[in-house]
Amino acid sequence: MSNVHLIDHPLVQHKLTLMRKKEASTNSFRRLLNELAMLMAYEVTRDMAMQEVEVETPLEKMTAKVIDGKKLVFVSILRAGTGILDGMLSVVPGARVGHIGLYRDPKTLTAVEYYFKMPQEMHERDVVVVDPMLATGNSAIAAVERLKELRPKSIKFVCLLTCPEGVKALQTAHPDVPIYTAAIDRQLNEHGYILPGLGDAGDRMFGTK
Ligand code: URA
Repeated sequence: MSNVHLIDHPLVQHKLTLMRKKEASTNSFRRLLNELAMLMAYEVTRDMAMQEVEVETPLEKMTAKVIDGKKLVFVSILRAGTGILDGMLSVVPGARVGHIGLYRDPKTLTAVEYYFKMPQEMHERDVVVVDPMLATGNSAIAAVERLKELRPKSIKFVCLLTCPEGVKALQTAHPDVPIYTAAIDRQLNEHGYILPGLGDAGDRMFGTK
């Protein structure tokens, strides 16, 4: 489990517990995911490169630091990544956004790509891939593989929840990609769901079941 950042901040853990409850409404699930994403953005941007800019306070001029948000790309794995993306963009509004459309073949559980749209000049950018659930790892592995073709400066992977199987799969395929997560649950079931988990993140977020 090297290169795994477990975000155990009490606020993160508290909100995740509320999301797990089966009686949580679509509205509160979405709101909590949004809040959690803001808190996770704080961790994942901790080592981001900064640049100095000139500012004038009411008293005098100074040089101060800012993140170069335009060099940062949040890549959302559709469709569940959208929930994390919104929260992250509210704290890093200058970030660019990419989308990867992948669906899980229900029989083989492998990832099938149907959409891929990235900003220009990816070789100059730091990428943060977001997907709430790192389960089998198949979508994450496929997304990172595809992104590596564009040679970005760095790639990080952020999820809300994962399991030992998902961590192992992603780390075996891409040991250079750090994983940021709020929890590593017990196991994957035979349908590719995380146990105890929180169910189908996309369905809970969009109210589609
Ligand atoms: N995707 C989900 O939404 N939930 C899981 O438990 C696994 C994959």
